[in-house]
Amino acid sequence: MSHQQDMEDTVEKLIHKGKGILAADESAPTIAKRFAAIGVESTEEKRREYRSLIFSTPSLGDHISGVILYEETLNQRSLDNKPMAELLLRQGIVPGIKVDKGKGPMANAPGDEITYGLDGLEERLQGYREQGARFAKWRDVYHITDTNPSRLAIEANAEVLARYAAVCQSLGVVPIVEPEVLIDGYHTIEHSAQVCESVLKAVFDALHRHGVVLERMLLKPSMVTPGKSHTTQANPEQVAEATLHVFRRVVPAAVPGIVFLSGGQTPEEATANLNAINQHGPQPWALSFSYGRALQEPAQKAWAGTLENGPAAQSAMHKRAQLNGAARNGEYSTDMEG
Ligand code: 13P
Repeated sequence: MSHQQDMEDTVEKLIHKGKGILAADESAPTIAKRFAAIGVESTEEKRREYRSLIFSTPSLGDHISGVILYEETLNQRSLDNKPMAELLLRQGIVPGIKVDKGKGPMANAPGDEITYGLDGLEERLQGYREQGARFAKWRDVYHITDTNPSRLAIEANAEVLARYAAVCQSLGVVPIVEPEVLIDGYHTIEHSAQVCESVLKAVFDALHRHGVVLERMLLKPSMVTPGKSHTTQANPEQVAEATLHVFRRVVPAAVPGIVFLSGGQTPEEATANLNAINQHGPQPWALSFSYGRALQEPAQKAWAGTLENGPAAQSAMHKRAQLNGAARNGEYSTDMEG
């Protein structure tokens, strides 16, 4: 199969109706934070146990189309001694890989950050592809304050994101382009909308400059919401309206799918918001999920670091996957939470 066909085939699988992506690509420091919240020390063995359990959830492939892995996981073997990617393939799930190297302060842009990882990206991607990865993810972050993000940070991050996407496509790997506008802060939903619009506009300009084929990528953005510390929160209908209003202005119809991140929304909020977005009727793009916390939090609590809790963790994982699969079709209702 040619690279082009291969990428189109991968995109189609990832945005299959009723399914979405599980982001299980927490870096070592991030997973340590998640484990600390359930009182578990993050060792390589514990990370292997947890992820192996989750990926073996019976019928996970009914609702999950792809899983984003962290490099360490791609190199690990499951509890039944199979390569982790094989565990996913067995369930008809496409393995993907996080390829950015995290973020840090950006020089001459106080309060803004820039994402690292372009050096050696091509070689790393070739290796990941040989290990079975068919799509990749790169995350840029944007803080909202009175002065952030600066124009400089918006432009610089867009450039890096587009360079990453172009390298992926040259190797037949579908890029997931993730510009995350952070939920932290006191800002209004209107302020979030302005920032999201500027960020996405810059990202699509950069993708165009770098010749990225929009039909062979997916966008992984934040929903437009008020800041987490804002006095009034928005209901799902308000989030859906604000999000679609911005996206219709700046996301070209050639993009096959938008797979949202959860970004600190609770599992129930993330599902209800996605459902409201999909209830708005047909849009140019498939609207699905690529959740990390919102899919895994209940499963992590149920597991609590104990292998005997495996079935309970898998059942919690399956439930959130199923509910988000319904939300991806606009068919979720809160009664289904049980
Ligand atoms: P959250 O859904 O927890 O935001 O994670 C998604 C992700 O992949 C962040 O890069």
